[in-house]
Amino acid sequence: MPIRHPDFPNAKVFDHPLIRHKLTLVRDRRTPHAEFRRLLNEIAGLMTYEVCRELETVEMEVETPVAIARGHRLRDKVTLVPVLRAGIGMCDGILSLFPEARVGHIGIYRDEATATPVEYYRKLPRDVASGPVFIVDPMLATGGSAAKAVADLRTLGCRHVQMICLVAAPEGIRRMQEADDQLIVNVAAIDDRLNERKFIVPGLGDAGDRIFGTA
Ligand code: PRP
Repeated sequence: MPIRHPDFPNAKVFDHPLIRHKLTLVRDRRTPHAEFRRLLNEIAGLMTYEVCRELETVEMEVETPVAIARGHRLRDKVTLVPVLRAGIGMCDGILSLFPEARVGHIGIYRDEATATPVEYYRKLPRDVASGPVFIVDPMLATGGSAAKAVADLRTLGCRHVQMICLVAAPEGIRRMQEADDQLIVNVAAIDDRLNERKFIVPGLGDAGDRIFGTA
Protein backbone atom coordinates (compact mmCIF):
# COMPACT_ATOMS: atom_id res chain seq x y z
CA MET A 1 0.00 0.00 0.00
CA PRO A 2 1.31 3.48 -0.78
CA ILE A 3 1.93 5.81 2.16
CA ARG A 4 0.96 9.45 2.53
CA HIS A 5 4.19 11.39 2.82
CA PRO A 6 4.37 13.18 6.20
CA ASP A 7 5.80 16.37 4.66
CA PHE A 8 3.71 16.35 1.49
CA PRO A 9 0.02 15.71 2.20
CA ASN A 10 -0.75 15.67 -1.54
CA ALA A 11 1.72 12.84 -2.25
CA LYS A 12 1.34 9.07 -1.98
CA VAL A 13 4.67 7.29 -2.11
CA PHE A 14 4.79 3.80 -3.61
CA ASP A 15 7.73 2.25 -1.83
CA HIS A 16 6.92 -1.41 -2.46
CA PRO A 17 10.17 -3.45 -2.57
CA LEU A 18 9.55 -4.50 -6.18
CA ILE A 19 9.04 -0.88 -7.21
CA ARG A 20 12.17 0.24 -5.34
CA HIS A 21 14.14 -2.54 -7.02
CA LYS A 22 12.92 -1.63 -10.50
CA LEU A 23 13.33 2.10 -9.90
CA THR A 24 16.98 1.57 -9.00
CA LEU A 25 17.53 -0.15 -12.36
CA VAL A 26 15.71 2.71 -14.10
CA ARG A 27 17.99 5.26 -12.45
CA ASP A 28 21.16 3.42 -13.55
CA ARG A 29 22.72 5.40 -16.39
CA ARG A 30 23.93 2.13 -17.98
CA THR A 31 20.39 0.78 -18.44
CA PRO A 32 19.72 0.71 -22.21
CA HIS A 33 16.54 2.31 -23.54
CA ALA A 34 14.68 -0.94 -24.31
CA GLU A 35 15.09 -2.09 -20.73
CA PHE A 36 14.43 1.40 -19.38
CA ARG A 37 11.08 1.43 -21.20
CA ARG A 38 10.18 -2.07 -20.04
CA LEU A 39 10.91 -1.22 -16.41
CA LEU A 40 9.01 2.05 -16.58
CA ASN A 41 5.96 0.22 -17.86
CA GLU A 42 6.25 -2.45 -15.18
CA ILE A 43 6.40 0.16 -12.42
CA ALA A 44 3.47 2.04 -13.93
CA GLY A 45 1.41 -1.17 -13.92
CA LEU A 46 2.26 -1.92 -10.29
CA MET A 47 1.33 1.59 -9.24
CA THR A 48 -1.91 1.53 -11.20
CA TYR A 49 -3.09 -1.58 -9.40
CA GLU A 50 -3.11 0.40 -6.14
CA VAL A 51 -4.31 3.69 -7.64
CA CYS A 52 -7.35 1.84 -9.01
CA ARG A 53 -8.29 0.61 -5.55
CA GLU A 54 -10.41 3.73 -5.11
CA LEU A 55 -12.44 3.33 -8.29
CA GLU A 56 -16.17 2.94 -7.73
CA THR A 57 -17.93 -0.24 -8.82
CA VAL A 58 -21.58 -1.12 -9.31
CA GLU A 59 -23.15 -4.47 -8.67
CA MET A 60 -24.38 -6.55 -11.60
CA GLU A 61 -25.40 -10.09 -12.35
CA VAL A 62 -23.50 -12.40 -14.64
CA GLU A 63 -24.55 -15.77 -15.96
CA THR A 64 -21.89 -18.40 -15.35
CA PRO A 65 -22.15 -21.81 -17.08
CA VAL A 66 -23.80 -23.00 -13.84
CA ALA A 67 -25.93 -20.23 -12.37
CA ILE A 68 -26.41 -16.50 -11.93
CA ALA A 69 -23.59 -14.86 -9.95
CA ARG A 70 -23.41 -11.42 -8.45
CA GLY A 71 -20.51 -9.42 -9.71
CA HIS A 72 -19.20 -5.91 -10.12
CA ARG A 73 -18.15 -3.64 -12.92
CA LEU A 74 -16.31 -0.36 -12.83
CA ARG A 75 -18.85 2.44 -12.66
CA ASP A 76 -17.11 5.12 -14.69
CA LYS A 77 -15.01 5.44 -17.80
CA VAL A 78 -11.41 6.09 -16.80
CA THR A 79 -9.10 8.17 -18.97
CA LEU A 80 -5.31 8.08 -18.95
CA VAL A 81 -3.72 11.31 -20.02
CA PRO A 82 -0.03 10.83 -20.79
CA VAL A 83 1.86 14.09 -21.04
CA LEU A 84 3.81 13.82 -24.30
CA ARG A 85 6.16 12.62 -24.81
CA ALA A 86 7.60 10.82 -21.77
CA GLY A 87 4.14 9.91 -20.40
CA ILE A 88 3.71 7.58 -23.38
CA GLY A 89 6.47 5.45 -21.88
CA MET A 90 4.21 4.39 -19.00
CA CYS A 91 0.96 3.78 -20.85
CA ASP A 92 1.50 0.23 -22.13
CA GLY A 93 2.12 -0.94 -18.58
CA ILE A 94 -1.12 0.63 -17.38
CA LEU A 95 -3.14 -0.56 -20.36
CA SER A 96 -1.89 -4.14 -20.05
CA LEU A 97 -3.62 -4.17 -16.67
CA PHE A 98 -6.51 -1.94 -17.56
CA PRO A 99 -7.21 -2.21 -21.30
CA GLU A 100 -10.63 -0.57 -20.97
CA ALA A 101 -9.09 2.77 -20.03
CA ARG A 102 -9.31 5.48 -22.66
CA VAL A 103 -6.23 7.46 -23.59
CA GLY A 104 -6.24 11.21 -24.15
CA HIS A 105 -3.06 13.10 -24.93
CA ILE A 106 -1.68 16.43 -23.85
CA GLY A 107 1.58 17.54 -25.46
CA ILE A 108 3.68 19.80 -23.26
CA TYR A 109 7.39 20.38 -23.43
CA ARG A 110 9.52 22.35 -21.08
CA ASP A 111 11.31 25.24 -22.73
CA GLU A 112 14.97 24.47 -22.09
CA ALA A 113 15.99 28.08 -21.56
CA THR A 114 13.19 29.10 -19.19
CA ALA A 115 11.97 25.71 -17.86
CA THR A 116 8.39 26.91 -18.43
CA PRO A 117 5.78 24.62 -20.00
CA VAL A 118 4.66 25.02 -23.61
CA GLU A 119 1.50 23.19 -24.70
CA TYR A 120 1.49 22.04 -28.34
CA TYR A 121 -1.11 19.30 -28.56
CA ARG A 122 -4.34 18.21 -26.92
CA LYS A 123 -6.74 15.42 -27.84
CA LEU A 124 -9.08 14.17 -25.15
CA PRO A 125 -12.33 12.18 -25.11
CA ARG A 126 -15.26 14.57 -25.46
CA ASP A 127 -16.72 13.31 -22.17
CA VAL A 128 -13.39 13.19 -20.34
CA ALA A 129 -15.06 14.82 -17.33
CA SER A 130 -17.50 11.91 -16.95
CA GLY A 131 -15.00 9.79 -15.00
CA PRO A 132 -11.65 9.69 -13.22
CA VAL A 133 -8.57 10.93 -15.04
CA PHE A 134 -5.00 9.78 -14.42
CA ILE A 135 -2.32 12.16 -15.64
CA VAL A 136 0.73 10.08 -16.51
CA ASP A 137 4.24 11.50 -16.62
CA PRO A 138 7.40 9.90 -15.22
CA MET A 139 8.89 13.21 -14.06
CA LEU A 140 7.59 16.01 -11.85
CA ALA A 141 10.40 18.58 -11.71
CA THR A 142 9.27 22.20 -11.30
CA GLY A 143 5.66 21.00 -11.65
CA GLY A 144 4.99 23.47 -14.44
CA SER A 145 3.96 20.84 -17.01
CA ALA A 146 1.74 18.93 -14.60
CA ALA A 147 0.11 22.11 -13.28
CA LYS A 148 -0.72 23.08 -16.85
CA ALA A 149 -2.19 19.64 -17.59
CA VAL A 150 -4.33 19.69 -14.44
CA ALA A 151 -5.56 23.21 -15.13
CA ASP A 152 -6.63 22.11 -18.64
CA LEU A 153 -8.56 19.18 -17.21
CA ARG A 154 -10.21 21.27 -14.49
CA THR A 155 -11.30 23.78 -17.14
CA LEU A 156 -13.01 20.89 -18.94
CA GLY A 157 -14.86 19.99 -15.73
CA CYS A 158 -12.80 16.99 -14.60
CA ARG A 159 -13.28 16.49 -10.88
CA HIS A 160 -11.44 13.27 -10.12
CA VAL A 161 -7.89 13.79 -11.29
CA GLN A 162 -4.78 12.04 -9.98
CA MET A 163 -1.24 11.97 -11.23
CA ILE A 164 0.87 8.84 -11.70
CA CYS A 165 4.51 9.77 -11.71
CA LEU A 166 7.79 7.97 -11.19
CA VAL A 167 10.13 10.52 -9.62
CA ALA A 168 9.32 13.95 -8.22
CA ALA A 169 11.29 16.83 -6.79
CA PRO A 170 10.04 18.39 -3.55
CA GLU A 171 9.69 21.67 -5.45
CA GLY A 172 7.29 20.05 -7.93
CA ILE A 173 5.17 18.41 -5.23
CA ARG A 174 4.86 21.74 -3.40
CA ARG A 175 3.96 23.54 -6.58
CA MET A 176 1.19 21.03 -7.27
CA GLN A 177 -0.17 21.54 -3.77
CA GLU A 178 -0.37 25.27 -4.44
CA ALA A 179 -1.74 24.85 -7.95
CA ASP A 180 -4.44 22.31 -7.08
CA ASP A 181 -4.88 21.13 -3.53
CA GLN A 182 -7.31 18.38 -4.59
CA LEU A 183 -4.77 16.61 -6.76
CA ILE A 184 -3.00 13.52 -5.41
CA VAL A 185 0.45 12.84 -6.81
CA ASN A 186 1.15 9.10 -6.81
CA VAL A 187 4.90 8.77 -6.98
CA ALA A 188 7.51 6.01 -6.65
CA ALA A 189 10.11 8.34 -5.11
CA ILE A 190 10.51 11.91 -3.96
CA ASP A 191 14.09 12.92 -4.67
CA ASP A 192 16.37 15.51 -3.06
CA ARG A 193 16.04 18.68 -5.11
CA LEU A 194 16.28 20.37 -8.50
CA ASN A 195 19.66 21.44 -9.82
CA GLU A 196 20.40 24.78 -11.50
CA ARG A 197 19.10 23.39 -14.82
CA LYS A 198 15.86 22.32 -13.09
CA PHE A 199 16.74 18.64 -13.41
CA ILE A 200 15.74 16.31 -10.59
CA VAL A 201 18.69 15.24 -8.39
CA PRO A 202 19.53 12.36 -8.30
CA GLY A 203 16.62 11.62 -10.68
CA LEU A 204 17.12 9.43 -13.70
CA GLY A 205 18.12 11.88 -16.42
CA ASP A 206 15.85 12.96 -19.27
CA ALA A 207 13.08 10.34 -19.21
CA GLY A 208 11.86 11.13 -22.74
CA ASP A 209 15.33 10.71 -24.21
CA ARG A 210 15.94 7.51 -22.28
CA ILE A 211 12.58 6.01 -23.27
CA PHE A 212 12.94 6.75 -26.94
CA GLY A 213 16.71 6.50 -27.32
CA THR A 214 17.06 10.10 -28.49
CA ALA A 215 19.80 11.22 -26.09
C1 PRP B 1 9.81 16.36 -18.97
C2 PRP B 1 8.90 15.44 -18.18
C3 PRP B 1 7.78 16.34 -17.76
C4 PRP B 1 8.46 17.65 -17.57
C5 PRP B 1 8.75 17.84 -16.10
O1 PRP B 1 9.34 16.51 -20.27
O2 PRP B 1 8.48 14.32 -18.90
O3 PRP B 1 6.74 16.44 -18.72
O4 PRP B 1 9.72 17.60 -18.27
O5 PRP B 1 9.28 19.11 -15.87
P1 PRP B 1 8.49 20.24 -15.08
O6 PRP B 1 7.87 19.57 -13.90
O7 PRP B 1 9.57 21.19 -14.71
O8 PRP B 1 7.48 20.83 -16.00
P2 PRP B 1 10.18 17.32 -21.37
O9 PRP B 1 9.89 18.78 -21.32
O10 PRP B 1 11.63 16.93 -21.26
O11 PRP B 1 9.55 16.83 -22.72
P3 PRP B 1 9.61 15.37 -23.41
O12 PRP B 1 8.74 14.47 -22.59
O13 PRP B 1 9.03 15.65 -24.74
O14 PRP B 1 11.03 14.90 -23.45
